[in-house]
Amino acid sequence: MASILVAGATGFVGRRLVPALAEAGHDVRAMTRNPDEYAGPARPVAGDVADAGSLADAMAGATVAYYLVHGLGSRDFETEDARAAQNFGAAAARAGVRQIVYLGGLGSDRDDLSPHLRSRREAERLLAAAGVPVTTLRAAIIVGHGGISWEMTRELVDALPVMIAPRWVNTRVQPIWIGDAVRYLVGVAEREEALGRTYEIGGADVLTYRRMMQVLGRILNRRPLPVFIAPVATPRASALWLSLITRVDPVTGRNLLESVSNEVIVTDDAITDLVPGPVLGYRQMVLAALRERLAALTGSADDGGEREQHGQ
Ligand SMILES: NC(=O)c1ccc[n+]([C@@H]2O[C@H](COP(=O)([O-])OP(=O)(O)OC[C@H]3O[C@@H](n4cnc5c(N)ncnc54)[C@H](OP(=O)(O)O)[C@@H]3O)[C@@H](O)[C@H]2O)c1
Repeated sequence: MASILVAGATGFVGRRLVPALAEAGHDVRAMTRNPDEYAGPARPVAGDVADAGSLADAMAGATVAYYLVHGLGSRDFETEDARAAQNFGAAAARAGVRQIVYLGGLGSDRDDLSPHLRSRREAERLLAAAGVPVTTLRAAIIVGHGGISWEMTRELVDALPVMIAPRWVNTRVQPIWIGDAVRYLVGVAEREEALGRTYEIGGADVLTYRRMMQVLGRILNRRPLPVFIAPVATPRASALWLSLITRVDPVTGRNLLESVSNEVIVTDDAITDLVPGPVLGYRQMVLAALRERLAALTGSADDGGEREQHGQ
């Protein structure tokens, strides 16, 4: 049993990870900037990654620290995320943490990565800079009720009779079900062979964004969404348009949209030796996420932890 700190415990991934770690027998602390509002199953601790001084108490006694924090909603997220990762890595080293587990983004370093993906990659380096071994899991879109990229896609397909999209709709992506991502995150804790290693994680299907929207359209609206290419749509125009159709704010929308020209697929499946087990395909994960949404709307149990979040 490890003593585990989860930074980002109140987020989409953290809300599912915390109970899974507790179920695996670990002693879990949930780090948040608002511990008084925390309603999850772990012990809440205050901590703000932008404030290095606030991390010492949160980190004290932890042997493993999960880092599930990002500043996508900020215009200057690159500077803020870099400082935050540096603060977290340094505090972990001072507290004697033996392993940091970080969930970052897929995408090839040989590609011209978007600022968002570049920043996620930089965080890997900065978290490790003070000497604590980092285990990085890199993922593309994580599908599950409440996930920002998933909800953005769902709202878009739900709202539109046809889609006029930029060329990026032909980029390939390998989405992963939130339950599978959490299983991998839990599975690397305290594993000697995972220290200092980077793993790519993905679901069973590689598909283009166009195909993703068509599959979703068939499930939501009983017909595939017709997608037409408009070659001259800028990220700024697309983000503004996106914020009109979905609930995503324009800054987050733009930061996410800039990544869609980068292919995000698994090229090395070493994680499947370390944490074996089947993963869901896209259609299965869409159906599971929609079931969770229905459960959250009707207040039944299978809601992926969303009611808990709404109560915060
Ligand atoms: N969602 C996806 O599809 C996806 C895909 C690939 C990778 N990832 C990665 O997975 C990680 C988690 O993503 P998510 O979707 O779960 O994010 P999220 O729902 O937006 O949650 C973000 C979390 O960060 C915490 N946070 C933000 N600023 C903070 C600060 N200054 N100090 C301390 N905590 C702070 C928030 O906690 P409080 O507000 O309670 O403090 C919240 O719990 C990120 O690193 C992301 O890049 C996500």
